[in-house]
Amino acid sequence: MLKIGIFCASAGGNSLKIAEALNEAFETDDIINMEEDFDEVAQLLEYDVLFIGSSTWGQGDVHHSWVDPLFEITFEDIDLNGKTVAFFGAGDSQKHGEHFCSALGKLYKIFTNAGAKAVGFMPKEEYNYDFSLAEIDGKLCGLAIDEHNESQKTDVRIEQWIEQLNQELRL
Ligand SMILES: Cc1cc2nc3c(=O)[nH]c(=O)nc-3n(C[C@H](O)[C@H](O)[C@H](O)COP(=O)(O)O)c2cc1C
Repeated sequence: MLKIGIFCASAGGNSLKIAEALNEAFETDDIINMEEDFDEVAQLLEYDVLFIGSSTWGQGDVHHSWVDPLFEITFEDIDLNGKTVAFFGAGDSQKHGEHFCSALGKLYKIFTNAGAKAVGFMPKEEYNYDFSLAEIDGKLCGLAIDEHNESQKTDVRIEQWIEQLNQELRL
């Protein structure tokens, strides 16, 4: 049986909403809150499947609690070969449409460079933004939600994504 870990950074609880749905759907032990429960990158290595969450800040930046772990993964040559990873997070496609949910793209780059295999890509067509680093090969490299402008779409987006993950992970 695959061991799943959910790691989530969320300042206002929007990204956490996805983490909670994942926790319930996949019956995982708990959500690792990056600010409260994360001590070292070795925690990532305990799992086969990683659900990695962050809202986007600044100009397309990851939540601050991801900065040190990402630095460590990159510069200490952390090996994530054999891990499967799926990214999620909240953003604002109107006020910050120049970098909508770009944190997911940054996470994608670092985790896949370290050897992880990414799943959970979503069509970008239903979103309305100008630019996003999360766009990879014409799709979004994970689940993006926008509680500011499209909150009515969130529940369905989460539901569909979980269904897709179930198929891609063949659980
Ligand atoms: C100062 C500031 C910068 C932001 N920058 C971005 C951004 O670059 N891209 C984006 O999609 N959202 C951006 N946002 C919006 C947040 O990501 C959004 O409010 C999100 O819902 C927060 O999710 P959380 O509750 O999980 O932290 C920004 C918000 C603030 C206040």
